[in-house]
Order: sequence, then C-alpha cells, then structure tokens
Amino acid sequence: MLNHQRPRRNRASKLIRDIAAETIVDRNKLIMPHFILEGKGLREPITSMPGINRSSIDNALKEIESDYKNGIDKILLFGIPERKDENGSGAYDRNGVVQKALREIKKQFPGLLVITDVCLCEYTSHGHCGMVDGGNILNDPTLELLARTALSHAESGSDMIAPSDMMDGRVLAIRHALDAAGFDDMPILAYSAKYSSAFYGPFREAAGSAPQFGDRSTYQMDCRNAREAEREVLLDVEEGADIVMVKPALSYLDIIRRVREIIDLPLCAYNVSGEYSMVKAMGKLGYGDEERLTREIITSIFRAGADTVISYHTRDIFRNGWFL
Ligand code: PBG
Repeated sequence: MLNHQRPRRNRASKLIRDIAAETIVDRNKLIMPHFILEGKGLREPITSMPGINRSSIDNALKEIESDYKNGIDKILLFGIPERKDENGSGAYDRNGVVQKALREIKKQFPGLLVITDVCLCEYTSHGHCGMVDGGNILNDPTLELLARTALSHAESGSDMIAPSDMMDGRVLAIRHALDAAGFDDMPILAYSAKYSSAFYGPFREAAGSAPQFGDRSTYQMDCRNAREAEREVLLDVEEGADIVMVKPALSYLDIIRRVREIIDLPLCAYNVSGEYSMVKAMGKLGYGDEERLTREIITSIFRAGADTVISYHTRDIFRNGWFL
C-alpha cells in the first residue's frame, strides 16, 4: 500500500472506537410516550407494539413510577376518551382523560417533565385532526379548539404543549391563548414537519384514531418533499415554537439534518410507532437483535442532528441499561 492513510487504526479496539466515536447518545434526551385510557383498572397491551400498553390513570401511574425508578423523567401523554364526537370535545374538557391524568401525575411525581400532545384525532368520531365539513378538514375553525385544548392542558399542569395536528397557524393560535391566560412561560413543542405516514399505523390502532374517511394527506406533509419541511419549520419558529419536530424519524433522517442546518432552536425527532413495531417484529421472528437494532436506530437519529428523541424504545433502553 502506497498510502499511509489507514482509517482502520481508529477501529482497532473497543476502547479506540469509544475515543473516536462522534455521536454519544445521552439518555437524558429521551422521552417516553404513554396512552392513557378513561376508566379504572385497565391495562390493554397493544398487540403491534409489544411492551407498550393502553392504561387507565391508576395503572399508568404504576408504569410511570417503575419507569421513573429506572431513570425515565420525561414523558409524553396521549389520551383515549370513552366517547368521541364530531368536534372532539373530549380534547378540551377540563375533566377529560389527559387533564385528569395530568393532575394526578404532577401531584405524585412533581419531578417529572410531562409533555402533552394536542390534537383532536383521538377525540373525533371521524378520526381527523380537525373539524370536518362534508369531505373537508377545516383549518381556521379548528384553531380555536386546539387553543382551548392547549389551555386546558396548561391549567391541569402540563409542562409543555405539543400540537400534532398540522393545521396552519396553530402554533400562533395556541401561543396567543396561553399568553392571554398568563401562561407565557409554557413552552410549545411543535410537530412542525410531520409527514403523512404509514408508520403511524400501530399508533392509530392504539388510539383508535384512524380516519373514518380519506386520509391525512390534505394536512400532513407529502413524503416526496424536503424543501417544504424547511418552510413548515420556519413558519412554526416565526409563530413562536420553542422546540420544533420532525416526524417520523427513520425515513426522514435527511429532513432532520436539513432542519438542523437552518435553525438554532432545539430539534426533536419522533421515532414513531411503526418504527418501534418493525424492531419488535424482527426480534420476534429472529431476523435481528433488538438491542443492536435499537442502538443503531436511536444513534442514527441523534447523528442526523436531533437534540431530543421521543421513542417507545425508551423503556427498554432504561430497563436494560443500554447507552450507559
Ligand atoms: C395525532 C398523532 C399521531 C401520532 C402522534 N400524534 C397519529 C397521526 O397523526 O395519525 C403518531 C405517533 C406514532 O405513530 O407513534 N395526530
């Protein structure tokens, strides 16, 4: 060999590889999602997401406690109401499932960071993220309902509001409503570049939120677009978002990288339900090692430029001591 360059020298042993490593996963950057059911004594495993349940508040508190003991101190809440209606009224009900859960969780675990997802789709009978007229998903009339939802979360003790609906202008509408009620310190984590994705399938089974007609392609982004993600993110920044998000993560690592390069705000990525299910399915079928798959996936999301990651793998990571 004429060349003296041998990149393999930096890979010669585990210790050298550790020194040369460019991306270190910090477990403090991980957020664990929860699905909270109305009712008592309920724990329903989600078949497509082994290890993840839909739990009523009492049982969710137990899961949160055991996770907390393992070190998980950042969670994201989704609510599954008993009844759904046209206008998703359970989303902004002061005694709605998320609002009740928030009060209990914050009382028992004041040291926990509790983020709440703001959307209507888990609460609407038609399963869309906004109000519906004929076949159309209405934008502006939905904003008021989202703002009311955000405010009710703030009043119930949420630490961070995370709108995931993809209506135009919702960050601004929520910011105004929060500020007007004195919640000017409440951070907004905006699902800014949220793509219309088949990887949400298991989530929709969990939340019973699959659209009853059509799909979400008139409001969520088209996977063929990347420049448009920059536009969506910049709009949310302008409207007052404190943290922006790219979702899903795995098929959108290029988008994470692009967004990282144009903004200074913290960037979140959502390692969504279908991405988790794929790993679990491979593990179950003996097609791959769950730990190695999880490490590689989570590392790649941080390497792409995410500052924080929402992932259903968080529980396994802390329980098994991965990335320590
Ligand atoms: C609600 C919402 C969805 C997810 C997060 N918030 C579903 C959707 O948009 O259909 C997906 C999360 C996941 O798949 O893990 N709008």
